Amino acid sequence: MSTPIIFDTDPGIDDAQAIAIALAHPDIELLGLTTTFGNVTIETATHNALLLAELAGQSIPVAQGASAPLVKPKNPPPGHIHGDNGLGNMPLPPVTTQAVSQSAAAFIVEQVNARPGEIVLVAVGPLGNLAAALQLDPSLVAKVKRVVIMGGSIREGGNVTPVAEANIFNDPHAAARVLQADWPLTLVGLDATHRCVLDPTSMEKIAAAQGELGKILGESYTFYRDFYQQAQGIDGCCPHDSCALVWLLKPELFQVERGYLSVVTEGLAEGQTLMAPASRQFVDDRWTRSVAADVCLNADGPAVIQWMVETLTAE
Ligand code: RIB
Ligand code: CA
Repeated sequence: MSTPIIFDTDPGIDDAQAIAIALAHPDIELLGLTTTFGNVTIETATHNALLLAELAGQSIPVAQGASAPLVKPKNPPPGHIHGDNGLGNMPLPPVTTQAVSQSAAAFIVEQVNARPGEIVLVAVGPLGNLAAALQLDPSLVAKVKRVVIMGGSIREGGNVTPVAEANIFNDPHAAARVLQADWPLTLVGLDATHRCVLDPTSMEKIAAAQGELGKILGESYTFYRDFYQQAQGIDGCCPHDSCALVWLLKPELFQVERGYLSVVTEGLAEGQTLMAPASRQFVDDRWTRSVAADVCLNADGPAVIQWMVETLTAE
């Protein structure tokens, strides 16, 4: 029984790896890719989403979304991490398809209303599209099967500030609306993704098995690996976005705790995600005003990588 998902993304090198999983896994029915600014501009995100689906030989609707945060000024895309073209600055083949005319938010609302209770929203970039979809149709909270988000950090510290993870930092106001809405939500943050290192040998196996898409994955990986070498002193990269799909399909590889999420939207700690464990009481009830989420606080890194390799090298 496959799970219908909408994958909201800012491709992005690790996004591309996750999109390959979404395109390849037999238990995923990929209804569409919705794009957002973040790792790249919205135009580049949409271009890359179209290209990745084309290279996989699949006709997947791509709906363009948020070009900037809800409130704060947009941060410049991290070209030093993903390349100016979002795929490691490697030469890219031309794109022959176009995005659908609907906005990302309208696409999400239409798809979820057509299949209430069935669709999982997997978001691996800044959360403006999900916030806009909620604004467009607040009843979505009762109609999605689940929301799975790559983002945030509870105990691990941040990757763009000492406390903030990139996707949340890039649009903290959107993140606050999404993480505090009354829908079933799983947060796959740095507490889990930093336990996973996609090593060069595993990446070579994946690239060799993925044809034309594999060339993009393999070459863009070398750019990302250089960043991780100098930034974190590791030989490989954290497959942040793939971890959201690994949780969806192999949840037993993650340690999860239930808690109430909050997002700091202003000031020095903007973009920080806070979790009030559901098992504890605090000084006042503002810490429990939202529905409790499932928050990943650890992962079996080697098993996650092994699952990725098995998935992306399967015949
Ligand atoms: O912090 C990691 C997240 O930010 C990943 O989604 C990566 O693609 C970037 O968007
Ligand atoms: Ca991403």
